[in-house]
Amino acid sequence: MKEYDFVVIGSGIAGLSFALKAAKHGSVAVITKRKGADTNTAWAQGGIACVTSDEDTFALHMRDTLEAGAGLCDEAAVRTIITEGPQRIRELVDLGLHFDERDVSGHREFDLGREGGHSKRRVLHVQDVTGKEIEETLLRQLARQSHVDLLENHMAVDLITAGKLGFAAEDRCLGAYVLDEKNSEVETIRSDRIVLATGGCGKVYLYTTNPDIATGDGVAMAWRAGAVIANMEFIQFHPTCLFHSKAKSFLISEAVRGEGGILRNNLGEDFMKRYDPRGSLAPRDIVARAIDEEIKRLGAQCVFLDITHQSPEFIKERFPNIYETCLRFGIDMSKQPIPVVPAAHYQCGGIKTDVNGATSLPGLYAIGEVACTGLHGANRLASNSLLEGLVVAHRACEAMTRDIAVLRKARKVSLPEWESGDVQDVDELVVIYHNWDEIRRLMWDYVGIVRTDKRLQRASARLRNLQQEIHDFYWNFKVSVDLLELRNLATVAAVIVDSALSRKESRGLHFTLDYPETNDRRFRHDTLLGRG
Ligand code: SIN
Repeated sequence: MKEYDFVVIGSGIAGLSFALKAAKHGSVAVITKRKGADTNTAWAQGGIACVTSDEDTFALHMRDTLEAGAGLCDEAAVRTIITEGPQRIRELVDLGLHFDERDVSGHREFDLGREGGHSKRRVLHVQDVTGKEIEETLLRQLARQSHVDLLENHMAVDLITAGKLGFAAEDRCLGAYVLDEKNSEVETIRSDRIVLATGGCGKVYLYTTNPDIATGDGVAMAWRAGAVIANMEFIQFHPTCLFHSKAKSFLISEAVRGEGGILRNNLGEDFMKRYDPRGSLAPRDIVARAIDEEIKRLGAQCVFLDITHQSPEFIKERFPNIYETCLRFGIDMSKQPIPVVPAAHYQCGGIKTDVNGATSLPGLYAIGEVACTGLHGANRLASNSLLEGLVVAHRACEAMTRDIAVLRKARKVSLPEWESGDVQDVDELVVIYHNWDEIRRLMWDYVGIVRTDKRLQRASARLRNLQQEIHDFYWNFKVSVDLLELRNLATVAAVIVDSALSRKESRGLHFTLDYPETNDRRFRHDTLLGRG
């Protein structure tokens, strides 16, 4: 059995910035399914929303966030995260991250981007590869830490809790079983502080802007461990994912609309003006629903994002990654509009935490997209998530290290090793792939941008059968990454459907034809699932 003071599961902005700070206080393991940089963070294009300019204020950033959140944000959490943002940004700069700058009357200032729902330019970015630069900066720093083991190609199977060991009265998280993919062995890792930073669950949908790792592992494990899960019906669909038969999950950043890009339907019409006075830069829920409606109304396959009014020089300098990628698919965005469709992008709910990352299960913390701090409410404001990851990671480390001396002295329960019995290797991989496809398609068709009770109930019934099948597989065959991801995906899909069925109104990202109005009297509260 291995033992660490801190175990972080996930290596995106939240997990790595936590690990760097925790390493000053004790031993740290960072467990990550593939390579360190295989994270949602590395794919983030837009940037980090933060008040840094004289023309902006915390009050305005708060107002925009609360407005997007459609009545469900936790105002205190919003204030904390927004006001502590600038300190965390300074730390990133000190670690060597160079945000884009521009000359203003002889001095350098951040070159701030604009995105939907923001009343001011406030998005710090590095061209259109902000996440990749952040990830590389943090991984470079991590490599210098002697107290940190970065365990790549390791996937957490499940959390070990006192409750599961028969001490329900003193339930807490005690460690995790972790699959080492190299030798297919499951290790037992002990820690009093387990931090889930596993990101979101975009892969639960057929079309997503997320990388393959986004299989909802953290929410699924926390759910099985009995922690409270909140607001999982609020899945954000990004309006503009590249539409091309060979392109997989490629995002066209909202910053393109921030620089004047206009959405047009297949008749060339600037249709967004008919849906919202803010046009193409309205908040994402509104834009995604409008695109969905236009596509259905016109029997089209996609809509188009037109930024041809900008010069080719500007486009290549500001969006080099998007420009090059589109060009590889035969689209020159400086000369022609980009075909786009909405796709699942961000999980606004997650494991319920306070603003220090503490969950309802002692010893278990959650930070980043996997957590629901109350910042996003029913709809996340663009580029608020990297900020949340940074601020909450810092606060979680502060909170955990306050009592570390006391905790180190606490009685240690010895943990049972993983038992794999006489299970065999999975004999029919086809079943795993079939179930993956079935879950992703049914979620897209029945639990997508526009919902109804009938579709949700159909999804729920089908998911119960799939979960039973996967459960049998889990107990009868050797665990593998594919099987574990499938099990997590099915769990998270069922949690999303249960949450959506319980909200009999439309609000933010949850829109149902059966209850098209918002009902503040009955539903202005979080959707909470789990034992608590
Ligand atoms: C984007 O660049 O459009 C994504 C930004 C975000 O989702 O916060």
